[in-house]
Amino acid sequence: MNAIPLCLPNDMTPEQFLSEYWQQKPLLIRQGLPQLIGMFEPEDMLDLAMDDDVSARLLIQAPTKQKNKAQWQLKKSPLTEADFDNLPAQWTVLVQNLEQWSPELGQLWQAFDYVPQWQRDDIMVSYAPKGGSVGKHYDDYDVFLAQGYGQRRWQLGKFCDAQTEFVKDEPIRVFDDMGEIIFDEVLEAGDVLYVPPKLSHFGVAQDDCLTFSFGCRRPNLMQIIDSLADVATNHSELFVPMRLPQTLQPSGELQAVSIHAIKEQLLQVMQSSQGEDMIRQAVSEVVSKRQYDALVPEETLTTDELMQALEEGATLQADYSNRLLYRHDDSGTSIYANGQRLDGLDEQSIALLVRLADGAALTYGDVKDIDPDDIAEWLENGWVWLNEVE
Ligand code: SIN
Ligand code: CO
Repeated sequence: MNAIPLCLPNDMTPEQFLSEYWQQKPLLIRQGLPQLIGMFEPEDMLDLAMDDDVSARLLIQAPTKQKNKAQWQLKKSPLTEADFDNLPAQWTVLVQNLEQWSPELGQLWQAFDYVPQWQRDDIMVSYAPKGGSVGKHYDDYDVFLAQGYGQRRWQLGKFCDAQTEFVKDEPIRVFDDMGEIIFDEVLEAGDVLYVPPKLSHFGVAQDDCLTFSFGCRRPNLMQIIDSLADVATNHSELFVPMRLPQTLQPSGELQAVSIHAIKEQLLQVMQSSQGEDMIRQAVSEVVSKRQYDALVPEETLTTDELMQALEEGATLQADYSNRLLYRHDDSGTSIYANGQRLDGLDEQSIALLVRLADGAALTYGDVKDIDPDDIAEWLENGWVWLNEVE
């Protein structure tokens, strides 16, 4: 099904990667993503960084000998040409959520199909001239650092924890001490370095260099609790005051036993099938949310144009700047897109959306029996994009 081979060393299975490396150990995959070579030039990314709708950051590394003087300067988008005038030698510009601007690049997520779509965050690019870096740091998430243009030297050091201190008063999270360097290699275009969460890393551009970070994410419990509260508002029975046993007690006291009784009822609901349902819904909504606002499509095709393009060989593919995912349970298959369950879909549409979510490219033959208005709506909502033949 996958046109793009998995990004792994030749002799490694995805199962092996997941059990031995994922969230544990770094892995260098030479030529793991050769599709990136020649896809973009530094100029493309500089232009994009100045686009009004992007989320971009310009990080300037000013040389300083003064003690306690901030070494880093950060400017967030909107960025203009003037921001790039008279820069010192070392700087980096970062642009987030590139899938939004290039669905072709977004498709490269398929090389990491061993990471489920709901655990993917976004593709970020860093452009830096020789010597540029974002400093020594660690991230809380897994990242695949894919070299797209030029060369970057990567050093990896110790695993950090909540006690690891960042340099004070800097606009970014950087520290000085990476501990013992366990890896020191130069990555060429097409090479990929997997870095697990909390592992300190430091990448320095060796020349004009583009690095694409395929970053992952996982929800935190606070997001789930928040979403659960939302889901619960649809359950009227939860609004009925609880029945609680009462023993004689001082009138001013809230006793531990009362709190315990309330907690027991809460846990009972959570452990009932209704609670399971609520949790399923809450988790699905959280993990199917997109992180960045959707772009309004510049042009929309009429349904006739759309069907004609498909007839002429265009394909429909999931747009990875959106989140399209499905869940199977006793009541059947539910589809979620961008934080919402899609209700009222017929069996055929569900089957197609499942295939799209799994990365399939659908052809005219696959969709010809679907109402073209439905397909147009999928496109308009951004769940899919039309990969037209050149
Ligand atoms: C970079 O591309 O320079 C930074 C990416 C990262 O450290 O996560
Ligand atoms: Co990082």
